Amino acid sequence: MATTAPTGSPLSQPSLTHPPPPRKLTTVKALSESPGLSSIPSIYTFPKQTYHEPVSDTKEPIPTIDFSLLTSSHPGQRSKTIRELGKACRNWGFFMVTNHGVPERMMKAIIEVCREFFELSEEEKRGIGGKHVLDPIRFGTSFNESVDEILCWRDYVKIFQHPEFHSPKKPPSFREIALEYSKRVRLVAREIIRGISESLGLEKDYIDETLNLENGLQLIAANLYPPCPRPELAMGLPPHSDHGLLTLLIQNQIGGLQVQHKGKWLNIDPIPNSFLANIGDHIEILSNGKYKSVLHRAVVNNRDVRISIAVPHGPALDAIVSPASKLVEDVGNPPAYGAMKYKEYLELQQGTMLNGKSCLERIRNGD
Ligand code: OGA
Ligand code: NI
Repeated sequence: MATTAPTGSPLSQPSLTHPPPPRKLTTVKALSESPGLSSIPSIYTFPKQTYHEPVSDTKEPIPTIDFSLLTSSHPGQRSKTIRELGKACRNWGFFMVTNHGVPERMMKAIIEVCREFFELSEEEKRGIGGKHVLDPIRFGTSFNESVDEILCWRDYVKIFQHPEFHSPKKPPSFREIALEYSKRVRLVAREIIRGISESLGLEKDYIDETLNLENGLQLIAANLYPPCPRPELAMGLPPHSDHGLLTLLIQNQIGGLQVQHKGKWLNIDPIPNSFLANIGDHIEILSNGKYKSVLHRAVVNNRDVRISIAVPHGPALDAIVSPASKLVEDVGNPPAYGAMKYKEYLELQQGTMLNGKSCLERIRNGD
């Protein structure tokens, strides 16, 4: 039991056996609105050599998948698109999705209602949701504010949409807009995942059935990147890969996403009204490393507020993910990753500091 020294004695320091009280961080939004802000607190300064590697100037365009051809009843068109999808997953891990059928007005509405959410008072935002990765609503700043040693120039809200739908109470229109948007996006994601399954030489519904996507996890993760007076010192999001199977991202016209490709960082300028898709760690596991969950990051700028809405789609929380047996046996490849429940992976990722690497390295076999 900890003993307490009399007050006023030099021994009345906080005992080391007690965890420090949780940090009460201000949001980046509030910080960026401080009058006359011309520099940034040192806790937002990332070491130059680690994260600010040069950006590639190649103009190699990222692959585009025409969703309408993926769902085409013309078998030739569909199989050609599936081959392109497989190639995009193998070579890039990222691709644009056009002709997806989600109306432009819904994409605009979700961005605007998330902007309104971030405009709520600090007290209102801080008062909602929990702090744990499995809490259905989570508002916060940085990446994982309880463990980050350097803070990211980003505020976020993450809201479970499926298998159970959740919504903050404010703004009042959030519920209806999010429900409609997430339903439509989930249909697109599930169809792409079917295509990915086929592109791996598996049954079309293999991933859907094995990982119980009927009860699959889907979140809305809204990111706010306020203007930063020293963008070259800060990071919106440092390099990371996404958990889950497939993330579909949109943004308000303002760029900032960079993707690692052939060892270099590439700026991504999405085609308007398209989704930027990336495969997540659990496709890498399921494919036994054939498809890689690629590192990406978000940089910030000193002019415009950037908002991005990422919608990750994962297995059911209780599903155990391991390399597909067909991909392991057929090629005589030993499984490169251990089996793990999706829910446990999420907890592992939340407890891990971002160190420029993917959390996947923690469950890779033999290295
Ligand atoms: C994410 C993410 C990138 C962006 O939310 O996981 O990578 O451009 N976002 O905001
Ligand atoms: Ni991401």
